[in-house]
Amino acid sequence: MADTKKHIVLFASGSGSNAQQIMAYFQEHPQIKVVALFSNKPDAYALKRAEAFQVPAFSFTREEYKNGILLQQVESFNPDLLVLAGFLWLVPLDFLQAFPNKIINIHPALLPKFGGKGMHGLHVHQAVLEAGEKESGITIHYVNEHYDQGTSIYQHTCPVNPTDTPEQLAARVLELEHAHLPRIIEEVLLNRSR
Ligand code: GRF
Repeated sequence: MADTKKHIVLFASGSGSNAQQIMAYFQEHPQIKVVALFSNKPDAYALKRAEAFQVPAFSFTREEYKNGILLQQVESFNPDLLVLAGFLWLVPLDFLQAFPNKIINIHPALLPKFGGKGMHGLHVHQAVLEAGEKESGITIHYVNEHYDQGTSIYQHTCPVNPTDTPEQLAARVLELEHAHLPRIIEEVLLNRSR
């Protein structure tokens, strides 16, 4: 039977807990399917998580990422949406041109604050705490040629407690990522109202 489902391709650099939530959410979905996961780290646990969901998983080198080889491989999956689920490299222009308004990212802070190069992992939460913010949260946004500067799709806040360590804040924000990213992906794909 022809594959009429919408195709998601995931990109993850690390543990892949967001990728896990997304693969689980769409595992039996009638209209949407995760068709592949790519990582720039051959030892990324995200690759193992994909195997557990029988999602084809591939690692790639910076050379392949930059010279069009990876782009061809990604295009072969006919993706309707590319999701950067904890992916740390800037997206090259040829990807943005090949997939206009079809690449989204999740950032563990309330952009436009606390974004940009180097703002990833605990560095983000450290900066939020040092700034004395009373709240933090997640931003899901379209990707453009600059780190974390694409059009925002969805934000959700959480409190910051004065006694928080970066790890405690990171855990609270990660919970929001897990709770909201799969649903927002579904809305983007089915409504394209975003
Ligand atoms: C999360 O903190 C996310 O905000 C950021 O990278 C981390 C990914 O975690 N983009 P995981 O690899 O999905 O567990």
